[in-house]
Amino acid sequence: MVRSGKIAWRSPSNIALVKYWGKKGFQLPLNPSVSMTLTNCYTETTIEFNHKNNLKNPAFSLLFQGKKNVPFESKIRSFIEVVSKEFPALSTLNLDISTHNSFPHSAGIASSASSLSALALCLLSIKNKVLGINMNEEDFLKKASYLARLGSGSASRSVYGGWVLWGETSGIEGSSDDYAIPLSNQVDEKFNSYYDSILIVSSGEKAISSSQGHELMESNPYKESRVNTGRFNAINLIDALKCCNEKVFGEIVEYEAANLHAMFLTSHPSFILIKPETLQIINKLKQFRDETKLEFTFTLDAGPNIHLLYSEDIRDKMLLFINTDLTALCEDGKWIDDKVGMGPILIDSN
Ligand code: DP6
Repeated sequence: MVRSGKIAWRSPSNIALVKYWGKKGFQLPLNPSVSMTLTNCYTETTIEFNHKNNLKNPAFSLLFQGKKNVPFESKIRSFIEVVSKEFPALSTLNLDISTHNSFPHSAGIASSASSLSALALCLLSIKNKVLGINMNEEDFLKKASYLARLGSGSASRSVYGGWVLWGETSGIEGSSDDYAIPLSNQVDEKFNSYYDSILIVSSGEKAISSSQGHELMESNPYKESRVNTGRFNAINLIDALKCCNEKVFGEIVEYEAANLHAMFLTSHPSFILIKPETLQIINKLKQFRDETKLEFTFTLDAGPNIHLLYSEDIRDKMLLFINTDLTALCEDGKWIDDKVGMGPILIDSN
């Protein structure tokens, strides 16, 4: 049995096109979600582990961007407790965890997908090292996605590069509520050159956390309709990715963003996460599309920022439009240039 060592993973964030909103059981989604894994927004997590004879519970220290972080520490504690049910030997280890995001905390980008997936990958690598288990890559990633999902639903999708589906979906073999699956071989090449220009409208703390928002779906009068919409859109979005129908792809993506924010408006209590500039940008985008007939689309996560999605072919035109018309509506002119990515990378193992 290996008694000490070091593991480090870099894991990316992802943007959902069909949204996960609402849970059942423990961390299971009400409807399937489809996402695009990013490249430049990622978390790097390093864990140094040592076996300790007298430990009853896993002990850990945590540095987030080089500093202590109490709210994140309590999320990690709950996650490690859940993972130790799957991996009892974890309870005899001391873990020194250090984690960094490539994007600033204040960028308004959700970090739970990248940070919890990086942690899940590290903990699974440690388990395999300590117990001397050799897993093939496919089984390793499936298990990592399963563990990541226990920490944060969207994190289950970050374990794979390209386009990813989480949630049982009729007609898609291997799809599951327990873990995500990669869609890469079902996606037209054009979508593998997709960009995500993230327009930062506001970097402030959200009025409501995702966990609180998911809970509010329980009493939302439109819950059933949302679940059916999500299921239907997942199937049709995957079809559009396969046949390379950018028009249908864009219609579904924008409808999903609007439907997600409609769920916020119809929750009890209701909440609003968009800002006036979000609507101004959306109006400008629609006008620009009417004038130019370019095939781009946009989505919103649980926040006011806009993810502008488009292919390599129209990159120059989109960059020009962002710089001349949109950055003036962004907070301090900020936007993040990102694109579809290859998935997590093991950066240290000894
Ligand atoms: C709107 O994955 O952050 O971004 O499972 O409670 O950690 P927890 O929620 P989380 O929810 C993400 C919601 C979303 C849509 C999505 O990413 O699918």
